[in-house]
Amino acid sequence: MTLKSTADKGIQTLSIHGGEQLDPTTGASVPSLVMSSTFVVDEEISFSANNLTSETPFVYTRWDNPTTQQLEHKLAILEQAEACIAFASGMAASAAVMLAQLSQGDHLVISNTNYPGTAEFARETLTRLGVEVTPVDTAEIAEIEAAMRDNTRMLWLETPSNPLLRISDIAAAAKIAHAQNALLVVDSTFASPIATRPLRLGADLVIHSLTKYIGGHGDAMGGAVCGSQALLGPLRGEGLVHYGGVISPFNAWLIMRGMATLPLRMRCHEDNAVALAAFLEAHERVERVLYPGLESHPQNDLARTQMDNFSGMISFRCANPKALAERMMQRLEVIHYAVSLGHHRSLVYLMQTEDLIGSSYRLEGNDLDSYREVAGDGIFRFSVGLEDSADLIRDLEQVL
Ligand SMILES: Cc1ncc(COP(=O)(O)O)c(C=O)c1O
Repeated sequence: MTLKSTADKGIQTLSIHGGEQLDPTTGASVPSLVMSSTFVVDEEISFSANNLTSETPFVYTRWDNPTTQQLEHKLAILEQAEACIAFASGMAASAAVMLAQLSQGDHLVISNTNYPGTAEFARETLTRLGVEVTPVDTAEIAEIEAAMRDNTRMLWLETPSNPLLRISDIAAAAKIAHAQNALLVVDSTFASPIATRPLRLGADLVIHSLTKYIGGHGDAMGGAVCGSQALLGPLRGEGLVHYGGVISPFNAWLIMRGMATLPLRMRCHEDNAVALAAFLEAHERVERVLYPGLESHPQNDLARTQMDNFSGMISFRCANPKALAERMMQRLEVIHYAVSLGHHRSLVYLMQTEDLIGSSYRLEGNDLDSYREVAGDGIFRFSVGLEDSADLIRDLEQVL
């Protein structure tokens, strides 16, 4: 009882059944958790990851594992990808893609504000290894075009981006990247495959932190890359087997369990975020609200065409952000003052401008001015959870 075809199934069916295989010995309805790190084989298998093929049986869990493989197949189906590789974290996935695809003398064009770990990895690690890095505001197509060079091998978008929720036009960026023979990589963590399928819009690789919406419950770290078999075959050997950032099968199992309800959760995240964004936008103490679903969002039109769901991430700005953060830490009852996002619990956190522009983004000139114009001294990143929206509104009201 595994799906005979996926093309004729809806997203809720695919999130539950896609990629899963009944255990042939027990018939268990739930995917089995296989924690074994090694597997008994009955033929000689090469010891080298360089000889790994899709026909290689299970040998060692750093290469592949039966539980993890089901997660990979499920996510590939949801992203409409030929293949998927799971990693220990979103950062392990991002680092593996950048290190395996870029070499000394290559050039990377990347969003100038995005997840700080990715930003720091590009600016510090890649430049130390001789990769040239140009951060631009990828929401401005003209900026991407102007940054491309003959040696540009990769264009990296994060959309919606962390923490300003900028939306980048994936289809337009794909044309620019491919004209230069560069790969387009999209970190789609904030969107999830329910909101956006970047491969259909022309991206070559999609990155997810599975720790966020896809796992959805804040109890398992994971990451993934989806794309063509031609790109992911070699990446499994180098980026997973050699770099070693392999996901625990237990985490893969937990994340797969979370994925069963992803479409339902995303609908509720969006409903709650729409209500909370409207509440915040009308509040006298709130100076600015960024939510792709609001008409006031600078790329609301693009969000409407590129996203099937506006997701649950809101950023907002208030006067005296440090004092408000202090009140949140002391007084919030339902919402947790904590980093991360995409969990069933609501999470809020102050992203301080000084901290980000100094240590992660290193913005200067116009880029710095435009960041400050939006974020002021700091912006609250609010991951709207699945609680009752009236309770979330009351919780925020008493601290604002
Ligand atoms: C957009 C985005 N990409 C990647 C990551 C890294 O994911 P992980 O924490 O699973 O390594 C994060 C983490 O917050 C993120 O927000």
